Amino acid sequence: MSVAVDCSSEETADILVESQNSSLLENETEDIEEFFNVAMELAKNAGKVVRSAFSEKKNINTKLTGQDLVTETDQAVEKMLISSLKERFPTHSFIGEESVSAGKKCELTDNPTWIIDPIDGTNNFVHGNPCIAISIGLAVKKELLIGIVYNPIQERLYSAKKGQGAYCNNEEVTVSGQTELENALIYSEFGAHRDPEKLEIKFGNMYNIIMNGHGIRAQGSAALDMCGIACGEADAYVEYGIHVWDIAAGILIACEAGGIIMDPDTGGKVDLMSRRILCASSRSLANQLKNQVTPQSFPSD
Ligand code: IPD
Ligand code: CA
Repeated sequence: MSVAVDCSSEETADILVESQNSSLLENETEDIEEFFNVAMELAKNAGKVVRSAFSEKKNINTKLTGQDLVTETDQAVEKMLISSLKERFPTHSFIGEESVSAGKKCELTDNPTWIIDPIDGTNNFVHGNPCIAISIGLAVKKELLIGIVYNPIQERLYSAKKGQGAYCNNEEVTVSGQTELENALIYSEFGAHRDPEKLEIKFGNMYNIIMNGHGIRAQGSAALDMCGIACGEADAYVEYGIHVWDIAAGILIACEAGGIIMDPDTGGKVDLMSRRILCASSRSLANQLKNQVTPQSFPSD
């Protein structure tokens, strides 16, 4: 299932022409405005819940591994977001991290689909580290139209609507434009997997990156990594094993800030469900980073 999220300079024009010719929604502009405004309000409300729970004692459970954590706040925020969106938009579909963990099918169809991570960076949340975000994306016909990533602790609200730029707290943001890996700061993450073979490949990739670039940062939130690229705070990000809810909103924000989104295996368009992502401030940097990583396969979302 290929998704139109390649933001390469050569292909962006194609994507824009395609969407001008065939609207994804009946009243696309009005609909997107309404969806965006509703989602922004909900993100702010969710932020209040996350902020007040941040310094409280947490009830922590584990999921697939002992490092794959969930708290009652993750579950409560996801429930609140999905039930409120469902009330406003009863025909829409939903993918949420905690609903999928609870057994709901993770399915991306052509129907307008809200893709939600109630807390990206749950491990940080558990440890009182402020690098956490609520992530809300909307895809229509598998194309991302809205991305909202909100860090309520550091009060940074990132947002993008397709074709309308990317913003942090109402100020337009752009990528650094860095073209050379040797001058680049790269985000890459350890993730929650503890399979020794996979970790060995991951560490090998990190070794290659650090030997060829300026440095690596692992903030513990894929969504904030992509927003960091959008703001020019780092130059690229690569991760295998990621899920659609970690990256959907961040992809649009990075794209709208001028970034490149690439499948690190093929160098082509990203399949949102493929569990891998490479995001960079330029096509040249994306290609150089791609050459430093050994592919790993994970079962699709
Ligand atoms: C995690 C974060 C982390 C990434 C993991 C994700 P979660 O999301 O985005 O940076 O390395 O792969 O699972 O579990 O905190 O929502
Ligand atoms: Ca999460």
